[in-house]
Amino acid sequence: MFLGLDAGTSAVKAILVDRDQRVVAQASRSYPISRPEPGWSEQDPQHWIAAVEATIGALRKEQPAAVGTVEAIGLSGQMHSAVLLDATMDVLRPVMLWNDARGREECAALARTVPGLATITGVQPMPGFTAAKLLWIRAHQPEVFACIAHVLLAKDYVRLHLTGELASDMSDAAGTQLFDQAKRRWSPEVLAAVGIDEACMPRLHEGTEISGRLRPEVAARLGLPAGIPVAAGGGDGGTGAVGVGCIENGEGFISLGTAAVYVVAANRYAPKPETMLHDFAHAVPGRWFQMAGMLNGASALSSTLQSIGETDIEGMLHRVEARYRGPSRLLFLPYLTGERTPHNNPDARGVLFGLDPDTEKADIVQAVLEGVAFSLRDAAECLEAADSACRSPGFIGGGSRSRFWARIIADATGLTLRRYRGADFGPALGAARLAIIAATGASVAEVCFPPEVEEEIVPDPALFAAYTPRYEEYRALYRALAPLF
Ligand code: XUL
Repeated sequence: MFLGLDAGTSAVKAILVDRDQRVVAQASRSYPISRPEPGWSEQDPQHWIAAVEATIGALRKEQPAAVGTVEAIGLSGQMHSAVLLDATMDVLRPVMLWNDARGREECAALARTVPGLATITGVQPMPGFTAAKLLWIRAHQPEVFACIAHVLLAKDYVRLHLTGELASDMSDAAGTQLFDQAKRRWSPEVLAAVGIDEACMPRLHEGTEISGRLRPEVAARLGLPAGIPVAAGGGDGGTGAVGVGCIENGEGFISLGTAAVYVVAANRYAPKPETMLHDFAHAVPGRWFQMAGMLNGASALSSTLQSIGETDIEGMLHRVEARYRGPSRLLFLPYLTGERTPHNNPDARGVLFGLDPDTEKADIVQAVLEGVAFSLRDAAECLEAADSACRSPGFIGGGSRSRFWARIIADATGLTLRRYRGADFGPALGAARLAIIAATGASVAEVCFPPEVEEEIVPDPALFAAYTPRYEEYRALYRALAPLF
């Protein structure tokens, strides 16, 4: 048995698979995000630990014998966070997450200080990355900054709890903007500019390597065998890719979770930072990927439903589908928490455009589904501009459960989407796969095959033609409003 744990933004997801990757059990436990000020986004890392223990407890309740025979654990997690520990391993402050926008001024300063920053780190400076957060803390909370002894990513804090090791992997390090993507090591230039000693950074492994072993006291409490290996794992971009077998040059997938990412694997590092894509080290050795990172995926839908007082998402989606007659008259810009690709604009916000006296809730919801689809078309265009186009990406994440939304995305982007069985466990499955490789020595090619395709959603040419002028208007609307954000 192998256990994959994904410490995501909204929940920990755990998956238990056997050697043939048959899913034996899965569980998840959610936790809140706190937004103390507009543009801030924080979490208490103890929530991740409690959720990890609760999910393993749930698996154990369902499959006690299987949990008792786990051979290895793999880790995945939300990327770009700054988990800051003092010398006694105490957490110094709430963790600033990937969608925290407060470090905007620090980004500009970092770009001035490190010539070639985007070429080294694979991406333009953006406030969501760890480097900008560290600079913000240095400027605004110097007493906290002075106590920083260790900087970790979310899943690495889970690793510390499980193994006592301070370690990370290339694909999560890739999202810190403190990492030299080509050399797959921490960047001395960027660390110096941020004022962090390399000794504060975790030891780096490839995602497929063993990073430590399960501590006996944790093992005893959770019913897992003591001393089993914990694979280095990856950030959820990399583990999502591993989960759907997106390893070789040109293979791609879209994940529509809280955030939306569109990832295309590559066998060399070829950054195109002017496109606002992120060229990051993959969670498997010798690979990188180009990633379009959009901050507002399925979260744009859930936030809107909350704003209009709708709690029944499925019922609402059925209502919208029942009255769907092609592109909406409304336009929706989904940038509720700012946007990375393609705008790198932390100040952008959501916009609903074109309301009239007859607008109903269902019209608004359709516009939201289409706005997120248009943001994926932007992503596809950026990837095309970077010679990383992929015509039929896999489609995973919570948002992929809606076949109707998948159809809108296919029609609005012109992409053929491959929907898989069990898709919402992508990164957790990827983590379990990395555990299999780490523990058994199996090859990446043997373990990381694409999951069974449930269905291919092919774009309808007439609808694609109808969506294209609306997409141009969507882009024009952002351009017109950009100076006002
Ligand atoms: C990727 C990204 C998100 C987070 C949260 O760049 O920002 O996918 O990792 O899942």
